[in-house]
Amino acid sequence: MDVAIKTIGLTKQYGSFVALEPLNIEVKKGEILGYLGPNGAGKTTTIRSMLGLIKPTGGRAEIFGIDTQANKVEAHKHIAYIPGESTFWPNLTGAETLYLLGRINGAVDNKYMAELIKRFQFDVSKKVRAYSKGNRQKINIIAALMTKADLLIMDEPTTGLDPIMEQAFKECVMEAKANGQTVFLSSHILEEVEALCDRIGILRSGKLVELGTLSEMRHLAALTVQATFENKPPKVDHIKGVSGIKVVGHQLTCQVQGSIDPLFSALVAAHPKTLLSREPSLEELFLSLYGEEEVRNKDQVS
Ligand SMILES: Nc1ncnc2c1ncn2[C@@H]1O[C@H](COP(=O)(O)OP(=O)(O)OP(=O)(O)O)[C@@H](O)[C@H]1O
Ligand SMILES: [Mg+2]
Repeated sequence: MDVAIKTIGLTKQYGSFVALEPLNIEVKKGEILGYLGPNGAGKTTTIRSMLGLIKPTGGRAEIFGIDTQANKVEAHKHIAYIPGESTFWPNLTGAETLYLLGRINGAVDNKYMAELIKRFQFDVSKKVRAYSKGNRQKINIIAALMTKADLLIMDEPTTGLDPIMEQAFKECVMEAKANGQTVFLSSHILEEVEALCDRIGILRSGKLVELGTLSEMRHLAALTVQATFENKPPKVDHIKGVSGIKVVGHQLTCQVQGSIDPLFSALVAAHPKTLLSREPSLEELFLSLYGEEEVRNKDQVS
């Protein structure tokens, strides 16, 4: 079976409010899929519906071909899940919590767990209530990774982690991929998604608006072009698709959407000393998708 996750018209409504429009996606085995969207876009709703933790109002989901509603227990045997919000037992220590979470899961690679504790510099001796936010999140991360589950489903896993721990997390996810595991990663951290993910899905107001590789998506945003000249840069504001023109001394920077030919011809005709073009980063793509839009943030009560 080379499909890890398949959703078929998966939908969630709260009363008349559509939190997730019919979603049809397939995540291939061994793939890392990044799932992006602003607050309230429906990322957590997708994950919870997909896992059968909330009842979808339409459609269904399969994990390695197993229906997550009809056969939840069987499906969950393949999964380690990091929830967006979690509460632990406040009186247990970190070590006790990891032990308990491991027992719930059934299969734990103890050697790898010890290694993870070290790599995440996690002090297991404290009581859960005494951990800082980032340290509490480490419990979630270690507990998920130590199972070496076939499928890791992570809902904003690096919330609260410092940059060093964020780096440790990235390394672990790459190792999971090398190990043949599949990862569904919902995140706000674009740099993390850019670094890790094979494909990216972008959700807006409950609707999947983009799904593809970063290079497939690059057509959505403008290319940045920078050129320097002996003298004053040429005028380019009349050229189709050109925007954001900035001239500082002899240097011109602008963005171009669509064909770059007319802009390049104009620049080359003026004999540039240097000429650079750069593809948009995921952050620039994301902003170009959301920039003009009003982000949905109307929390609904069912
Ligand atoms: N139990 C519920 N009753 C009514 N509306 C809900 C419920 N749970 C979620 N929603 C709404 O569904 C929408 C999607 O919420 P969701 O938590 O999936 O967003 P998200 O993308 O995970 O956001 P964030 O980035 O803030 O975690 C929001 O508008 C939210 O208010
Ligand atoms: Mg969420």
